[in-house]
Amino acid sequence: MGSQLKRRARTEVAKDDFSGRLATLDDPAGRASEAYRSLRASLLRTLTMAPPAVVVLTSPGPSEGKSTTCANLGVALAQAGYKTLIMDCNLRTPLLHKVFGLSNSYGLVDVLTNGHSLQDLLREPPLANLNIVTAGPIPPNPTELLGSRRFSEVVREARTRFDYVLLDSAHLLAAGPPSIGTFADPLELASRADGVLLVLDAQDTTRDALRRTMHTLESAGSSILGLVVNNVEPTRRGLT
Ligand SMILES: Nc1ncnc2c1ncn2[C@@H]1O[C@H](COP(=O)(O)OP(=O)(O)OP(=O)(O)O)[C@@H](O)[C@H]1O
Ligand SMILES: [Mg+2]
Repeated sequence: MGSQLKRRARTEVAKDDFSGRLATLDDPAGRASEAYRSLRASLLRTLTMAPPAVVVLTSPGPSEGKSTTCANLGVALAQAGYKTLIMDCNLRTPLLHKVFGLSNSYGLVDVLTNGHSLQDLLREPPLANLNIVTAGPIPPNPTELLGSRRFSEVVREARTRFDYVLLDSAHLLAAGPPSIGTFADPLELASRADGVLLVLDAQDTTRDALRRTMHTLESAGSSILGLVVNNVEPTRRGLT
């Protein structure tokens, strides 16, 4: 496991540096913003293809910082001049509308169920080069929607309009013993994307959960582009 961890591009956000969900907009000179810019640089180095590229953010468990990372990476890419779309594909616990102060009365779910187009969903950008697609009302069948042909079409259309498309996902591992298994949502997203950024919490994510997550994604043919380790203590315990 140690060597698997060492081989990956890795970006850390230290616990003491974390200054709120949208540091890149609210505190651009702060150390957390610097970390998200490093993440941008690392991602652009690791992605071997020219834009467009579609990247999924997921994690082994809940609340490890996926949405926070997705929002700040999206802002950092837009600040560097890339046309960027953040799509809230966490149809279980959507959050990006809150991060950007938007209504979630409509969103991706409407494109997947009601015949709306991606274009219908694009709103006034919060900053130049950045568009957000909110999730919309929580559906009863998130995995089916994300596994649908319509979702593939939406991702294909997003590639024609943007340089980078970030898909914020639900987590991968179901709670409980390993035999209980995994949620398919991140795998559906990853199969339509060019790679996955794995978001971890230095205090909470176990090595076993990380190993199972990497194994599941790689067995499904996904490319893990890097690790983002949140909540790193100066004492460097846990995953560090
Ligand atoms: N680098 C960080 N350091 C400390 N706390 C963080 C960091 N990044 C995010 N957080 C906090 O962790 C919590 C979870 O963040 P977030 O909602 O982004 O996680 P998530 O993985 O998207 O959760 P979910 O599984 O519900 O989608 C929030 O309270 C957020 O403010
Ligand atoms: Mg989230």
